[in-house]
Amino acid sequence: MQPLKSTFVVSSSGKENWPESDLPEVVVVGRSNVGKSSFINALTGKKKLAYVGSTPGKTQLLNFFDIDGQWMLVDVPGYGYAKLSQAQLKKLGKMMDDYFGERENIACVISLVDARHAPSEDDLDMIDYFRQTGRKIIVGATKIDKVPKTRRLAALKTISRDLQLPLKNIYPISSVEKSGLDEIYNAVLKELKPETAE
Ligand code: GTP
Ligand code: MG
Repeated sequence: MQPLKSTFVVSSSGKENWPESDLPEVVVVGRSNVGKSSFINALTGKKKLAYVGSTPGKTQLLNFFDIDGQWMLVDVPGYGYAKLSQAQLKKLGKMMDDYFGERENIACVISLVDARHAPSEDDLDMIDYFRQTGRKIIVGATKIDKVPKTRRLAALKTISRDLQLPLKNIYPISSVEKSGLDEIYNAVLKELKPETAE
């Protein structure tokens, strides 16, 4: 995968500081610690574009990254992280609701799930939510490097079944081994430029 030309644009806490831009946005969502920020770094070929933490709950704001001057990747806080106060949860919830409810630039959602486990209740709820909002969803099964090769197909089939999406639409990825990145990137490009993709 060729490195993408990527630059950090802004960290936003709410609609008053969303970037003033018409570029299409591709939002990376998933449970806390599933590997959203690592995926953004792997995809852009940068080690520290997005902040990666060893403990869950690292990303607390919406972080916008300009890609090739053509579109934006958006890193958002993970869901399902229990160790937040009610006040923090409420703040995060409003930030995400406003963004998904009101931001017109959102082109598609990359929903990351952990390849090692069946999707959680949170994963299923979130994917239902995106379906209801009519958003196109691309699923990435992260940390596939941690699943033994002989069990990978079965793991992907479980995810496909539980999420009720075709197997070919579940992209296995490893941000550590940098595998599966071209495939999911091409799926994103197809959403961004349906007329030019093969
Ligand atoms: P929050 O910001 O807390 O929501 O987490 P996140 O989804 O952004 O996860 P992050 O990228 O910070 O990664 C969490 C942990 O998983 C880190 O320790 C990463 O090194 C590890 N990790 C991420 N992707 C992979 C992967 O593909 N394979 C393996 N083995 N580890 C990974
Ligand atoms: Mg993160």
